[in-house]
Amino acid sequence: MNKKFGVKILSTGSYFPKKVLTNADLEKIVETSDEWISARTGIQERRISEKNEYTSDLAYKASLDALKTANITPEQIDLILVATVTPDMFFPSTACFLQKKLGLMLAPAFDLSAACSGFIYGITTARAFIESGLYKTILLVGAEELSKITDWTDRNTCVLFGDGAGAMILSASEESGDVLSTYIGADASYSDLLFMPAGGTVNPATIETVNAKMHTTKMQGRDVFKAAVQKMAFAAQKALEFSGKNLEDIKLFIPHQANMRIIEAVAKKIGISMNSVFVNIHKTGNISSATTITALDEAIKTGKLQNGDIVELIAFGGGFTWGAAVIRV
Ligand code: ACO
Repeated sequence: MNKKFGVKILSTGSYFPKKVLTNADLEKIVETSDEWISARTGIQERRISEKNEYTSDLAYKASLDALKTANITPEQIDLILVATVTPDMFFPSTACFLQKKLGLMLAPAFDLSAACSGFIYGITTARAFIESGLYKTILLVGAEELSKITDWTDRNTCVLFGDGAGAMILSASEESGDVLSTYIGADASYSDLLFMPAGGTVNPATIETVNAKMHTTKMQGRDVFKAAVQKMAFAAQKALEFSGKNLEDIKLFIPHQANMRIIEAVAKKIGISMNSVFVNIHKTGNISSATTITALDEAIKTGKLQNGDIVELIAFGGGFTWGAAVIRV
């Protein structure tokens, strides 16, 4: 592709629902313990949306946060992208619902589905649109309400997931820009290890699919674990190579927050100290495509990152999909 523009990251934002679900709360729902969840996953609590609080509502609030920081109005956005596997509806897209809430009349809007790697796929997509000169200012959101596709009787999965949204505003720049590299990959031979069986054309919604809890996340945890470590380490190395930077140039690594043991194993495999790895899984659980962006936003807001620092975002998810991005904040 003939690169016409660099990509500037104008701002980030995030939003979490108010309701907190602790491990102690989960002990009352399924046969589990705070000790097991903390030791096996690193998660202590997660945020859960209200019944009438939708993915686009979380996306909207995260977007307002990012718009405020960038000091721009919604009218200046010329494309809306929402990465999600928990859309408000199959259609219209959550990006369209977000457009309605923001009051944007003309910006094109669409959703992007790459499970927990959604935000990295999103940065890659936004980057291509901006570098080609097709769009100038893009609102990219990762937003999820995984609590609404969770089987709350399955202790293997219900302790893992949470809700939240993060947003980033990217804009065309005459200079080289802040997105130094992106790398994405997928291998669908593992599609049956992490998936939601019903609701689509394979198993359209029926009384039977609802009774069999087929509209909820199914996962082979151990196999997902192994692949997550391998592919996240691989993606991190690839994106780093494409960026022309070294491990020492990266101020902070922000991996997908699915399991503390996965994060530690990835750090070991890449050869970095946990001191340079950002972790907030204890407060959020796994929020799929919202994970890396909300973690990045927290790292910026809490002063762990300063202007000009280089960060690597790394993710892995259903599909399987994976990816990494080296960016300057
Ligand atoms: N509380 C208590 N015991 C439990 C719980 C629980 N919540 N869940 C499982 N167990 C039990 C199991 O039943 C099993 O018991 P058994 O030995 O009597 O059969 C035992 O604990 C060990 O189970 P494992 O599944 O082997 O436990 P493991 O150490 O692998 O941890 C986990 C499970 C946390 C799910 C882990 O495999 C994992 O994190 N996997 C990866 C998840 C992930 O990365 N997902 C990423 C993408 S998500 C997305 O894309 C939407």
